[in-house]
Amino acid sequence: MSLVCLADFQAHARERLSKSTWDFIDGGADDCFTRDDNIAAFKRIRLRPRFLRDVSEVDTRTTIQGKEISAPIGIAPTGFHCLTWPDGEMSTARAAQAADICYITSTYASCSFEDIATAAPRGLRWFQLYAQPDRQLNKQLIHRAESLGFKALVITVDVPVAGNRRQDIRNNLDLKTNLLLKDLRSPKERNPTPRLQMTPVDPSICWNDLSWFQSITQLPIILKGILTKEDAELAMKHHVHGIIVSNHGGRQLDEVAASIDALTEVVTAVQGKIEVYLDGGVRTGNDVLKALALGAKCVFIGRPILWGLAYKGEHGVQEVLNILKKEFRTSMTLTGCRSIAEINQNLIQFPRL
Ligand SMILES: Cc1cc2nc3c(=O)[nH]c(=O)nc-3n(C[C@H](O)[C@H](O)[C@H](O)COP(=O)(O)O)c2cc1C
Repeated sequence: MSLVCLADFQAHARERLSKSTWDFIDGGADDCFTRDDNIAAFKRIRLRPRFLRDVSEVDTRTTIQGKEISAPIGIAPTGFHCLTWPDGEMSTARAAQAADICYITSTYASCSFEDIATAAPRGLRWFQLYAQPDRQLNKQLIHRAESLGFKALVITVDVPVAGNRRQDIRNNLDLKTNLLLKDLRSPKERNPTPRLQMTPVDPSICWNDLSWFQSITQLPIILKGILTKEDAELAMKHHVHGIIVSNHGGRQLDEVAASIDALTEVVTAVQGKIEVYLDGGVRTGNDVLKALALGAKCVFIGRPILWGLAYKGEHGVQEVLNILKKEFRTSMTLTGCRSIAEINQNLIQFPRL
């Protein structure tokens, strides 16, 4: 049976993957309230289409941090792609390059950053950092990413500790025994006997540390995981270049707002001075359109990429991206938008509850 929407890939992955891998990907924190609300919140928003606007040509291209992409859709950072496909992130990177979109590579990618860059040398990639307690290691990781051509540094701020994922605890999930954790140091500095390590994220990191990151890299810095106007204002005060409104796919603090519900507060706070992106619960072209109408410059998808990998590796991810891009084009056409610039808040309404 052919898979025609992202939910089909989800159903296929659930059947195909082992229970512990499926649960690891699918899981949210605690009651999974926010994970599910990320999806439900999109469905509470209604569209207001406009007609008779000559939509014979529709252009989905846009830019992020000055780089052109084929559509405002990118790949959110997720770790351990080798869980779902043997060559993991190398397949993801190739698919992203073919689709001409941005791939945010996780600190906990199961392939080396060098292999990922070699697999898709022309692709637009950003590097996601979980700040490590060892400053030198952070510096090394960032410099490696920079020299491998990654174009932005995405610092994830919503993981001072890992969220409480009940299914992983029940399953006794141990990523170490799956040999998925890698030595984060540069190839030169590793021990002859590979030491698998995943140092915990540094919980002491705070706003004042941003100037240190800015002092060691030329890359634009983007904060991932901001949900409030207070933090959006601090992000601007500390001169970051972008914000990803995200609740980590509902995997960190449960019962926070759905990403799409938090977007307006952040967009209003930044007043167009920096780019705002969104991830969490984006599953259809209409979802992409709604996020853009509310002020996101681009959206990123997490779990659907892993479903695509589980289906057919690189080609599965390509299919997921092509379906979402095609749906988004249709959403634009049916609402009368010929270009990204024509997408605005008039396209949506929030029904009275
Ligand atoms: C299996 C899995 C692993 C993830 N790993 C990371 C990670 O390494 N770094 C990070 O910043 N976010 C990570 N995330 C969060 C995603 O970047 C993103 O915020 C979330 O998946 C978006 O929601 P969606 O899955 O509904 O699209 C992970 C999410 C999942 C599901």
